[in-house]
Amino acid sequence: MPGATESIRVLMTQMVPQLAIERLRYAVGSEGKLDINPDADHIWTKQELIDKLRESHYNALYCMLTNPVDKEVMDAAPHLKVIANMAVGYNNVDANEATRRGIAVTNTPGVLTDTTADFAWALLMASARRVAEADRFAREGRFHGWGPLMMVGQDVHGKTLGIIGFGRIGRAVAKRAGGFDMTVLYYDQYPADVETEKSLNARLVSMEDLLAQSDYVTIHTDYNPGTHHLIGAPEMARMKPTAYLINTARGACVDEAALVEALKGGKLAGAGLDVFEHEPRINPGLLELQNVTLAPHIASASLETRTAMALMAADNILAVMRGELPANMVNPEVYGAAKQ
Ligand code: DGY
Repeated sequence: MPGATESIRVLMTQMVPQLAIERLRYAVGSEGKLDINPDADHIWTKQELIDKLRESHYNALYCMLTNPVDKEVMDAAPHLKVIANMAVGYNNVDANEATRRGIAVTNTPGVLTDTTADFAWALLMASARRVAEADRFAREGRFHGWGPLMMVGQDVHGKTLGIIGFGRIGRAVAKRAGGFDMTVLYYDQYPADVETEKSLNARLVSMEDLLAQSDYVTIHTDYNPGTHHLIGAPEMARMKPTAYLINTARGACVDEAALVEALKGGKLAGAGLDVFEHEPRINPGLLELQNVTLAPHIASASLETRTAMALMAADNILAVMRGELPANMVNPEVYGAAKQ
Protein backbone atom coordinates (compact mmCIF):
# COMPACT_ATOMS: atom_id res chain seq x y z
CA MET A 1 0.00 0.00 0.00
CA PRO A 2 1.22 3.53 -0.68
CA GLY A 3 2.72 5.37 2.23
CA ALA A 4 0.79 8.15 3.93
CA THR A 5 3.49 10.67 3.13
CA GLU A 6 3.16 10.61 -0.65
CA SER A 7 1.53 13.76 -2.04
CA ILE A 8 -1.83 13.15 -3.69
CA ARG A 9 -1.97 13.90 -7.40
CA VAL A 10 -5.41 13.25 -8.84
CA LEU A 11 -6.67 13.42 -12.40
CA MET A 12 -10.46 13.65 -12.61
CA THR A 13 -11.89 12.92 -16.03
CA GLN A 14 -15.16 14.80 -15.66
CA MET A 15 -16.66 17.38 -13.35
CA VAL A 16 -18.52 15.83 -10.39
CA PRO A 17 -20.72 17.36 -7.65
CA GLN A 18 -18.89 20.17 -5.89
CA LEU A 19 -18.82 18.59 -2.43
CA ALA A 20 -16.56 15.81 -3.66
CA ILE A 21 -14.26 18.26 -5.42
CA GLU A 22 -13.98 20.30 -2.23
CA ARG A 23 -13.21 17.22 -0.15
CA LEU A 24 -10.45 16.20 -2.53
CA ARG A 25 -9.03 19.71 -2.83
CA TYR A 26 -8.79 19.99 0.93
CA ALA A 27 -7.05 16.63 1.26
CA VAL A 28 -4.71 17.23 -1.65
CA GLY A 29 -3.54 20.50 -0.12
CA SER A 30 -0.79 22.63 -1.56
CA GLU A 31 1.73 19.78 -1.95
CA GLY A 32 -0.51 17.73 -4.23
CA LYS A 33 -2.72 18.51 -7.19
CA LEU A 34 -6.22 17.93 -8.45
CA ASP A 35 -6.64 18.39 -12.19
CA ILE A 36 -10.14 18.21 -13.61
CA ASN A 37 -11.36 18.05 -17.17
CA PRO A 38 -12.80 21.58 -17.31
CA ASP A 39 -15.42 20.83 -19.95
CA ALA A 40 -18.37 19.12 -18.28
CA ASP A 41 -19.83 18.18 -21.65
CA HIS A 42 -16.72 16.74 -23.20
CA ILE A 43 -15.80 13.15 -22.48
CA TRP A 44 -12.09 12.68 -23.07
CA THR A 45 -11.25 10.17 -25.76
CA LYS A 46 -8.87 7.43 -24.72
CA GLN A 47 -6.05 9.28 -26.47
CA GLU A 48 -6.89 12.53 -24.68
CA LEU A 49 -6.86 10.68 -21.36
CA ILE A 50 -3.50 9.12 -22.18
CA ASP A 51 -2.06 12.51 -23.17
CA LYS A 52 -3.38 14.09 -20.00
CA LEU A 53 -1.98 11.31 -17.80
CA ARG A 54 1.45 11.74 -19.38
CA GLU A 55 1.52 15.42 -18.42
CA SER A 56 2.08 14.79 -14.73
CA HIS A 57 3.00 12.12 -12.20
CA TYR A 58 -0.61 11.36 -11.22
CA ASN A 59 -1.01 8.68 -8.60
CA ALA A 60 -4.83 8.65 -8.56
CA LEU A 61 -7.24 8.47 -11.46
CA TYR A 62 -10.82 9.50 -10.71
CA CYS A 63 -12.71 8.20 -13.72
CA MET A 64 -16.16 7.57 -15.13
CA LEU A 65 -17.78 4.58 -16.80
CA THR A 66 -17.18 6.34 -20.12
CA ASN A 67 -13.39 6.07 -19.74
CA PRO A 68 -11.86 2.83 -20.93
CA VAL A 69 -8.97 2.27 -18.54
CA ASP A 70 -6.87 -0.48 -20.05
CA LYS A 71 -3.22 -1.45 -20.30
CA GLU A 72 -2.37 1.44 -22.63
CA VAL A 73 -3.95 3.97 -20.30
CA MET A 74 -2.14 2.46 -17.31
CA ASP A 75 1.14 2.55 -19.27
CA ALA A 76 0.70 6.32 -19.48
CA ALA A 77 0.52 6.59 -15.70
CA PRO A 78 3.34 4.58 -14.14
CA HIS A 79 2.82 6.21 -10.72
CA LEU A 80 -0.84 5.22 -10.45
CA LYS A 81 -1.89 3.76 -7.08
CA VAL A 82 -5.64 3.90 -7.45
CA ILE A 83 -8.29 3.95 -10.15
CA ALA A 84 -11.53 5.19 -8.60
CA ASN A 85 -14.48 4.60 -10.90
CA MET A 86 -17.52 6.73 -10.11
CA ALA A 87 -19.99 3.92 -10.84
CA VAL A 88 -20.89 0.58 -9.38
CA GLY A 89 -20.19 -1.11 -12.73
CA TYR A 90 -16.50 -1.17 -13.57
CA ASN A 91 -16.41 -3.10 -16.83
CA ASN A 92 -14.64 -0.10 -18.36
CA VAL A 93 -11.58 -0.80 -16.18
CA ASP A 94 -9.23 -3.71 -16.83
CA ALA A 95 -9.14 -4.73 -13.18
CA ASN A 96 -6.91 -7.75 -13.84
CA GLU A 97 -4.31 -5.54 -15.46
CA ALA A 98 -4.55 -3.11 -12.53
CA THR A 99 -4.11 -5.99 -10.10
CA ARG A 100 -0.99 -7.15 -11.93
CA ARG A 101 0.42 -3.65 -11.47
CA GLY A 102 -0.59 -3.37 -7.81
CA ILE A 103 -3.12 -0.63 -8.56
CA ALA A 104 -6.28 -0.52 -6.44
CA VAL A 105 -9.55 -0.35 -8.36
CA THR A 106 -12.59 0.99 -6.54
CA ASN A 107 -16.26 1.48 -7.38
CA THR A 108 -19.35 3.00 -5.75
CA PRO A 109 -21.78 0.25 -4.72
CA GLY A 110 -24.77 0.64 -2.43
CA VAL A 111 -25.36 4.38 -2.63
CA LEU A 112 -27.15 4.16 -5.97
CA THR A 113 -29.25 1.07 -5.32
CA ASP A 114 -32.59 2.72 -4.56
CA THR A 115 -32.21 5.50 -7.09
CA THR A 116 -31.47 2.99 -9.84
CA ALA A 117 -34.35 0.77 -8.76
CA ASP A 118 -36.67 3.79 -8.80
CA PHE A 119 -35.60 4.50 -12.34
CA ALA A 120 -36.08 0.93 -13.53
CA TRP A 121 -39.63 1.35 -12.29
CA ALA A 122 -39.94 4.71 -14.02
CA LEU A 123 -38.99 3.05 -17.31
CA LEU A 124 -41.29 0.11 -16.65
CA MET A 125 -44.25 2.36 -15.88
CA ALA A 126 -43.47 4.76 -18.72
CA SER A 127 -43.25 1.88 -21.20
CA ALA A 128 -46.38 0.06 -20.05
CA ARG A 129 -48.48 3.23 -19.88
CA ARG A 130 -46.87 4.93 -22.89
CA VAL A 131 -45.90 8.05 -20.93
CA ALA A 132 -43.16 9.33 -23.28
CA GLU A 133 -45.27 8.60 -26.32
CA ALA A 134 -48.27 10.34 -24.77
CA ASP A 135 -46.11 13.36 -23.96
CA ARG A 136 -45.05 13.58 -27.62
CA PHE A 137 -48.66 13.13 -28.69
CA ALA A 138 -49.85 15.98 -26.47
CA ARG A 139 -47.04 18.34 -27.47
CA GLU A 140 -47.66 17.68 -31.14
CA GLY A 141 -51.22 19.02 -30.72
CA ARG A 142 -52.78 15.64 -31.44
CA PHE A 143 -54.95 15.53 -28.32
CA HIS A 144 -58.44 16.39 -29.53
CA GLY A 145 -60.36 14.93 -26.62
CA TRP A 146 -60.63 11.82 -24.45
CA GLY A 147 -60.98 8.66 -26.46
CA PRO A 148 -61.73 5.10 -25.36
CA LEU A 149 -59.01 3.71 -27.60
CA MET A 150 -56.53 6.53 -27.26
CA MET A 151 -53.04 5.72 -25.90
CA VAL A 152 -54.19 2.46 -24.40
CA GLY A 153 -51.34 0.71 -22.62
CA GLN A 154 -50.98 -2.30 -20.38
CA ASP A 155 -51.56 -2.73 -16.66
CA VAL A 156 -48.66 -3.12 -14.29
CA HIS A 157 -50.49 -4.12 -11.10
CA GLY A 158 -51.20 -7.78 -10.74
CA LYS A 159 -48.75 -8.79 -13.46
CA THR A 160 -45.59 -10.90 -13.30
CA LEU A 161 -42.24 -9.21 -12.92
CA GLY A 162 -39.09 -11.14 -13.90
CA ILE A 163 -35.85 -9.88 -12.41
CA ILE A 164 -32.60 -11.08 -13.95
CA GLY A 165 -29.79 -10.56 -11.43
CA PHE A 166 -30.91 -10.52 -7.81
CA GLY A 167 -28.21 -8.44 -6.19
CA ARG A 168 -28.76 -5.16 -4.39
CA ILE A 169 -30.55 -3.39 -7.24
CA GLY A 170 -32.59 -6.39 -8.34
CA ARG A 171 -33.84 -6.81 -4.78
CA ALA A 172 -34.71 -3.13 -4.48
CA VAL A 173 -36.75 -3.48 -7.67
CA ALA A 174 -38.52 -6.50 -6.17
CA LYS A 175 -39.31 -4.57 -2.99
CA ARG A 176 -41.14 -1.93 -5.01
CA ALA A 177 -43.24 -4.59 -6.79
CA GLY A 178 -45.07 -5.28 -3.53
CA GLY A 179 -47.05 -2.08 -3.96
CA PHE A 180 -48.32 -3.31 -7.31
CA ASP A 181 -49.44 -6.76 -6.13
CA MET A 182 -47.14 -8.41 -8.63
CA THR A 183 -45.85 -11.95 -8.81
CA VAL A 184 -42.09 -11.61 -8.58
CA LEU A 185 -39.80 -14.15 -10.23
CA TYR A 186 -36.06 -13.90 -10.28
CA TYR A 187 -33.11 -15.60 -11.85
CA ASP A 188 -29.62 -15.43 -10.42
CA GLN A 189 -26.80 -17.92 -10.37
CA TYR A 190 -26.57 -17.28 -6.64
CA PRO A 191 -30.01 -17.85 -5.08
CA ALA A 192 -31.08 -15.51 -2.30
CA ASP A 193 -31.63 -16.98 1.15
CA VAL A 194 -35.11 -18.09 2.14
CA GLU A 195 -35.67 -15.09 4.43
CA THR A 196 -34.88 -12.63 1.64
CA GLU A 197 -37.12 -14.48 -0.80
CA LYS A 198 -39.91 -14.47 1.77
CA SER A 199 -39.60 -10.80 2.64
CA LEU A 200 -39.57 -9.80 -1.03
CA ASN A 201 -42.17 -12.35 -2.02
CA ALA A 202 -39.83 -13.45 -4.81
CA ARG A 203 -39.37 -16.92 -6.29
CA LEU A 204 -36.25 -18.29 -7.96
CA VAL A 205 -36.95 -19.81 -11.38
CA SER A 206 -34.88 -20.87 -14.35
CA MET A 207 -34.04 -18.23 -16.93
CA GLU A 208 -36.31 -20.05 -19.40
CA ASP A 209 -39.29 -19.94 -17.04
CA LEU A 210 -38.66 -16.33 -16.13
CA LEU A 211 -38.66 -15.32 -19.79
CA ALA A 212 -41.75 -17.36 -20.60
CA GLN A 213 -43.83 -16.25 -17.62
CA SER A 214 -42.98 -12.59 -17.09
CA ASP A 215 -44.94 -9.61 -18.34
CA TYR A 216 -41.99 -7.37 -17.50
CA VAL A 217 -38.40 -8.55 -17.64
CA THR A 218 -35.85 -6.26 -16.01
CA ILE A 219 -32.08 -6.74 -16.12
CA HIS A 220 -29.85 -6.10 -13.09
CA THR A 221 -26.68 -8.06 -13.73
CA ASP A 222 -23.20 -6.69 -14.09
CA TYR A 223 -21.60 -6.78 -17.52
CA ASN A 224 -18.86 -9.29 -18.20
CA PRO A 225 -18.10 -11.73 -21.02
CA GLY A 226 -20.66 -14.13 -19.51
CA THR A 227 -23.50 -11.59 -19.63
CA HIS A 228 -22.70 -10.26 -23.11
CA HIS A 229 -25.97 -10.55 -25.12
CA LEU A 230 -27.56 -12.33 -22.19
CA ILE A 231 -30.84 -11.42 -23.84
CA GLY A 232 -30.58 -12.12 -27.55
CA ALA A 233 -32.95 -13.36 -30.24
CA PRO A 234 -33.49 -16.84 -28.68
CA GLU A 235 -34.31 -15.33 -25.28
CA MET A 236 -36.66 -12.76 -26.82
CA ALA A 237 -38.39 -15.56 -28.70
CA ARG A 238 -39.17 -17.18 -25.35
CA MET A 239 -40.80 -14.03 -24.00
CA LYS A 240 -44.50 -13.28 -24.32
CA PRO A 241 -45.37 -11.04 -27.29
CA THR A 242 -47.09 -8.81 -24.72
CA ALA A 243 -43.95 -8.52 -22.57
CA TYR A 244 -41.70 -5.52 -22.01
CA LEU A 245 -37.94 -5.57 -21.58
CA ILE A 246 -36.36 -3.06 -19.20
CA ASN A 247 -32.60 -2.49 -19.06
CA THR A 248 -30.81 -0.25 -16.60
CA ALA A 249 -27.72 -2.48 -16.30
CA ARG A 250 -25.35 -2.34 -19.28
CA GLY A 251 -26.39 -2.01 -22.91
CA ALA A 252 -24.42 -4.97 -24.19
CA CYS A 253 -26.34 -7.35 -21.90
CA VAL A 254 -28.94 -7.11 -24.67
CA ASP A 255 -28.40 -7.83 -28.36
CA GLU A 256 -29.69 -4.48 -29.57
CA ALA A 257 -30.05 -5.48 -33.22
CA ALA A 258 -32.12 -8.49 -32.17
CA LEU A 259 -34.22 -6.26 -29.93
CA VAL A 260 -35.03 -3.93 -32.81
CA GLU A 261 -36.10 -6.93 -34.90
CA ALA A 262 -38.21 -8.37 -32.08
CA LEU A 263 -39.95 -5.05 -31.48
CA LYS A 264 -40.55 -4.43 -35.17
CA GLY A 265 -41.86 -7.94 -35.67
CA GLY A 266 -44.31 -7.68 -32.76
CA LYS A 267 -42.44 -10.37 -30.81
CA LEU A 268 -42.28 -8.03 -27.81
CA ALA A 269 -44.68 -5.28 -26.75
CA GLY A 270 -42.03 -2.72 -25.89
CA ALA A 271 -38.85 -1.82 -24.08
CA GLY A 272 -37.55 0.72 -21.61
CA LEU A 273 -33.84 1.34 -22.02
CA ASP A 274 -31.43 3.47 -20.03
CA VAL A 275 -28.31 1.86 -21.47
CA PHE A 276 -27.17 1.02 -24.99
CA GLU A 277 -24.82 -1.41 -26.60
CA HIS A 278 -22.61 1.22 -28.20
CA GLU A 279 -23.11 4.24 -25.95
CA PRO A 280 -23.57 7.08 -26.61
CA ARG A 281 -24.75 5.85 -30.01
CA ILE A 282 -28.32 4.63 -29.99
CA ASN A 283 -29.32 2.08 -32.60
CA PRO A 284 -31.28 4.08 -35.21
CA GLY A 285 -33.82 1.26 -35.30
CA LEU A 286 -34.72 2.01 -31.68
CA LEU A 287 -35.11 5.71 -32.38
CA GLU A 288 -37.78 4.96 -34.96
CA LEU A 289 -39.95 2.89 -32.64
CA GLN A 290 -42.74 4.46 -30.58
CA ASN A 291 -42.96 1.50 -28.20
CA VAL A 292 -39.50 2.08 -26.76
CA THR A 293 -38.82 4.48 -23.91
CA LEU A 294 -35.28 5.78 -24.14
CA ALA A 295 -33.16 7.48 -21.49
CA PRO A 296 -29.51 8.60 -21.72
CA HIS A 297 -28.00 6.41 -18.95
CA ILE A 298 -29.47 8.39 -16.07
CA ALA A 299 -30.76 5.72 -13.70
CA SER A 300 -28.52 6.93 -10.87
CA ALA A 301 -28.91 10.60 -11.76
CA SER A 302 -30.47 12.19 -8.70
CA LEU A 303 -28.50 14.98 -7.06
CA GLU A 304 -28.37 13.10 -3.76
CA THR A 305 -27.10 9.91 -5.32
CA ARG A 306 -24.62 11.47 -7.70
CA THR A 307 -23.23 13.43 -4.75
CA ALA A 308 -22.97 10.26 -2.68
CA MET A 309 -21.25 8.41 -5.54
CA ALA A 310 -18.81 11.27 -6.08
CA LEU A 311 -17.94 11.45 -2.37
CA MET A 312 -17.50 7.70 -2.20
CA ALA A 313 -15.06 7.74 -5.12
CA ALA A 314 -13.14 10.60 -3.46
CA ASP A 315 -13.02 8.73 -0.15
CA ASN A 316 -11.77 5.61 -1.91
CA ILE A 317 -8.87 7.60 -3.34
CA LEU A 318 -8.08 9.21 0.00
CA ALA A 319 -8.12 5.87 1.81
CA VAL A 320 -5.62 4.37 -0.64
CA MET A 321 -3.40 7.41 -0.40
CA ARG A 322 -3.48 7.20 3.41
CA GLY A 323 -2.29 3.63 3.14
CA GLU A 324 -5.65 2.17 4.16
CA LEU A 325 -7.86 -0.43 2.52
CA PRO A 326 -10.58 1.57 0.72
CA ALA A 327 -14.17 0.68 1.57
CA ASN A 328 -15.08 -0.27 -1.99
CA MET A 329 -12.18 -2.08 -3.52
CA VAL A 330 -12.89 -4.51 -6.33
CA ASN A 331 -9.41 -6.07 -6.29
CA PRO A 332 -8.46 -6.30 -2.57
CA GLU A 333 -6.05 -9.08 -3.49
CA VAL A 334 -3.69 -6.26 -4.48
CA TYR A 335 -3.18 -5.73 -0.76
CA GLY A 336 -3.39 -9.38 0.14
CA ALA A 337 -6.95 -8.98 1.46
CA ALA A 338 -9.68 -11.46 0.57
CA LYS A 339 -12.50 -10.62 -1.84
CA GLN A 340 -15.88 -10.28 -0.07
C1 DGY B 1 -23.23 2.50 -12.57
O1 DGY B 1 -22.96 3.02 -11.47
O2 DGY B 1 -22.66 1.49 -12.96
C2 DGY B 1 -24.32 3.13 -13.38
O3 DGY B 1 -24.40 2.61 -14.65
C3 DGY B 1 -24.17 4.62 -13.42
O4 DGY B 1 -24.59 5.09 -12.20
